[in-house]
Amino acid sequence: MKKLLDLISEEVKKAFAEAGYEEELGRVTVSNRPDLCEYQCNGAMAGAKKYHKAPIVIAGEVAEKLKESAVFSEAVSAAPGFLNLKVKEEFLADYLKEMGEASKFGVSEPGKGKKIIIDYGGPNVAKPLHVGHLRSAIIGESIKRICRYAGAEVIGDIHLGDWGLQMGLIIYELSLRKPELPYFDEEFDGEYPKEAPFTISELEEIYPMASGKSKEDAAYKEKAMEATFKLQNGVRGYRALWDHIIQVSVEDLRKNYDRLNVEFDLWKGESDVQGRIPGMVEYMKREGYAHESEGALVVDVVKEDDTKEVPPCMILKSDGAALYNTTDLATIEERMEKIAPDELIYVVDKRQELYFEQVFRCARKTKLVKPETELKFLGFGTMNGKDGKPFKTREGGVMRLEYLLEEVYKEMLGKISENKEMSVEEAKKTAEIVALSAVKYGDLSNQASKDYIFDIQRFTSSEGNTGVYLLYTMVRIKSILNKYREQGGKTEKTQIAVTGNESAKELMKAVAGFGAMIENAYLETAPHKVCAYMYDLANALNHFYHETKILTQENEAEKSAYIALLALTLRVMEECIGLLGFSAPERM
Ligand code: ARG
Repeated sequence: MKKLLDLISEEVKKAFAEAGYEEELGRVTVSNRPDLCEYQCNGAMAGAKKYHKAPIVIAGEVAEKLKESAVFSEAVSAAPGFLNLKVKEEFLADYLKEMGEASKFGVSEPGKGKKIIIDYGGPNVAKPLHVGHLRSAIIGESIKRICRYAGAEVIGDIHLGDWGLQMGLIIYELSLRKPELPYFDEEFDGEYPKEAPFTISELEEIYPMASGKSKEDAAYKEKAMEATFKLQNGVRGYRALWDHIIQVSVEDLRKNYDRLNVEFDLWKGESDVQGRIPGMVEYMKREGYAHESEGALVVDVVKEDDTKEVPPCMILKSDGAALYNTTDLATIEERMEKIAPDELIYVVDKRQELYFEQVFRCARKTKLVKPETELKFLGFGTMNGKDGKPFKTREGGVMRLEYLLEEVYKEMLGKISENKEMSVEEAKKTAEIVALSAVKYGDLSNQASKDYIFDIQRFTSSEGNTGVYLLYTMVRIKSILNKYREQGGKTEKTQIAVTGNESAKELMKAVAGFGAMIENAYLETAPHKVCAYMYDLANALNHFYHETKILTQENEAEKSAYIALLALTLRVMEECIGLLGFSAPERM
C-alpha cells in the first residue's frame, strides 16, 4: 500500500500539473501549524521564481484545481503562498479499511530481498550478564524484528565471548581447587564425566575471584595465560572442561534471554572461527595487506581524510597470539562464506566504535566483504543510575541482569496487587509481562546512541511516556471491546466509517501513519521511532476516549464505527509492541 502522505502528495502534484506547473512542486508535509490545517504544501513558493509569478497566485490556482478533490475537505491558499490542506474523513476511512484488510497493514516492505546478519547480545561465557549486555539484547532484538517486518531475511547471532583469558582463569582456578579431577591428569586417557564438575553459581563465583587474583598476583596470571594457551592448543582435558563451562553457561544464558523474550537464530561464538585464523592470516600476508610492525602483524587502515587517528588493525600480537580483532575478522569471513549477507549490523557499546571502524576498514581492504556489503555499527550509550553514573547495585557492585529485572518485577507486582480483583497468580503473571515492557520501553524509547537514566519509579509509572502507559492504553481498549461484546455486539462485524468526530479523525490519522513509521524505523535502524509513534497513537486514543461517548453512544452506526476504529488501533499497537519485543496482558 502507498503511504498516506504519498497519496496526499500525489493528489496535489496532479493539481500542480493541471494548473500548468511542474509536478514535483506538489510535495506535501504534515502541517507545522496544526491550528490552521492538517497538511501543507510550500511548492508555490518554490515555483515562484521559475514561473515569474507571485506565489500566492500559483497557490490560488492549485487550490482551485483541488476544489473537487476526493482527498481534501479543504484546500486554501494563504499568504505568502502556502497551500493549507485538510483531508476528508471518507478518504481516511477508506485508507484505514484497506489497511485493516491488508497483510501487515499494507507496509511496503522496503527490506525485501535483503539478507541481514545482526550481531547482538554478545555475552561472555562464565561471566555474569550485566546491564550493558541488557541493552545489546533489547535493542538488537527489536532491530531484528523491525528488519523482518520490513521484509528482510534476518539472522540474529549471539556471538558468544567464549575464547578469551576468562576461560583460562576458570580452568586454572579449578585446577587449584579440585586438582584430583581427571581433566588435570595428563596421563588420563579414559572418558571424561558427562556431568560438569561445577554449577552455574560456582562458576559465577569462580570467575570474579580468579580475575581479582590475577590482577594482584603476576604468577597467578601467568598460570592462567598458560591454561588459556593450552586450551587454545587443544589439550584434551582442558577442552573437555571448556565444553562443560560452555554447556553450563549457555543453559543459564538461555534462561535469561527467555525471560527477556530475546531469541537468537545462531549461538555461534568466538571459538567457532579459531580454525580459520591461520588461513586468513596467511592470505592477508600473501596478498600484501598485512605487514610486520614492532614484531606484531598489522593491516594499515588510515585514510587520507581522517580527522581522528585510526591506528592500524592488529592481526597478531608479537607473541603470535590472535586478538579480539582477529576473531571478528575471521567471523566476517565465515559469515560471508556461509551466509553471504548483504548487510551486517553490530549492536555493541559505543565505546567500541573506533575498534569497529578499524575492523570494518580492514575487512574492506582485505576484501573479506564485497564492495557493496554494508557494515553497520550501531553503538549504544550507557545505562546510568539516577546519580548519572553507570548503573550499580545499592552495594556498589556491577548490576546483574537478573537482579535488575527482579527489582522492576517487585515494584510492578506491588502496584498491580493493589487491584484486589486479581488473584495472586494472575498478578504475578501480569507483573512479569508489564515489568518487561517497563524495562524495554525505558531503553528503546531513547535514541540508542544516547546514555539514559534507569529510573524504576518513572519506568513503572502508568503516566507519561512509558511502556506501562502504553499497556494501560491497550488494556483500556481491550476492556471496551469486551464490554461491547458482552452487550451483544460483534466486533468483527463493525466497519470503520465516517462519524464527523474530530478526535476520532485525529486518531485515524495517527493509525494511518503506521506504514511510514515502519519504513523510517527500518531505514534508520531506529526502534525509538516505533516508540514515538506508539506514544502519539496512545495519546490520540486516550484523547478520543475522554472526548467521546463510546459504549453509551445511542447512534448504533456511530458506535460501531468507533468500535472498529478501536479494534484497528489495538491491532496496530499489538504489532508495535511485538516489534519492541514485549506483549500486553489482558488486564492490569
Ligand atoms: N563480548 C563482547 C563484550 O562483552 C561483545 C561482542 C560484540 N560483538 C562482536 N562481534 N565483537 O564486550
